[in-house]
Amino acid sequence: MSRQDQTVAKLNDAGGPAAPSKQRKGRVTATEIAGRKGREPIVCLTAYDAPTAAILDPHCDVILVGDSVGMVVHGLPSTVGVTIEMMILHGRAVMRAATSALVVVDLPFGSYEASPAQAFETASRILGETGAQAVKLESGVHAAETVRFLVDRGVPVMGHVGLRPQAVHVSGFKAKGRTEGERLSIIGEATATDVAGAFAIVVEGVAEDLARELTETVAAPTIGIGASPDCDGQILVTEDMLGMFEWTPKFVKRYADLRDKIDEAVKAYASDVRARRFPEPAQLYRLGASKSAG
Ligand code: KIV
Repeated sequence: MSRQDQTVAKLNDAGGPAAPSKQRKGRVTATEIAGRKGREPIVCLTAYDAPTAAILDPHCDVILVGDSVGMVVHGLPSTVGVTIEMMILHGRAVMRAATSALVVVDLPFGSYEASPAQAFETASRILGETGAQAVKLESGVHAAETVRFLVDRGVPVMGHVGLRPQAVHVSGFKAKGRTEGERLSIIGEATATDVAGAFAIVVEGVAEDLARELTETVAAPTIGIGASPDCDGQILVTEDMLGMFEWTPKFVKRYADLRDKIDEAVKAYASDVRARRFPEPAQLYRLGASKSAG
């Protein structure tokens, strides 16, 4: 065992951070994620731009270019207005910076529901134009044929059951699985997605015991968000866990308070500019100085 491997093993034994994915050889594949069922938890976060993807990449197994970009970056009220072009633009930016995580891009609302052929046209365009390796779609019994169609044609698919944000106008943004009827329907959604060949399934906003039951039931790894620590992996919207918004949903743990930090920094900058304290000599170019502009 190399010294680096020993250090990593020690950190893991001590409950420290797991080996960052940069130490892997090559990019994580969808097949590898499918094989993680019941094993080391799968770490997933969202990214929509290159600098964020570069920070996430060494730590994450999966980076999702989620259609949450519509709400987080573009200020839309829901994911319903997100377009294929937006997903391609953000997918390309993420792919320029992420070299080891599996990059999954969401199929936006209206781009895949009409038929399996429509879904294949969208998925092949997104994979071809971004270089990402897999797509995610909001799934269930209604989408099982589409998932099978895509997988059979070489498109790795991540499913998404429970709270389905693209169905907000039918079922709202509330947690699911609190009635027997809802539980049965979500078990049906997850099972259909699994049997159709999804390599992993996002389980969003469901009662904890149901998320656990789903994880025990399906063969594909489950990726929880507002679900259960017993899922095979977890995902959050990065801006939520970094504290970029005043309000965050109950299931989000804030690992930083970037909104406050940015507010402080911008306040200090504004006050420096107004008082002519910025720029300082260190930030100025002077005649005859030999250093190149950096
Ligand atoms: O769009 C998204 O970011 C998502 C995750 C929150 C699962 O679907």
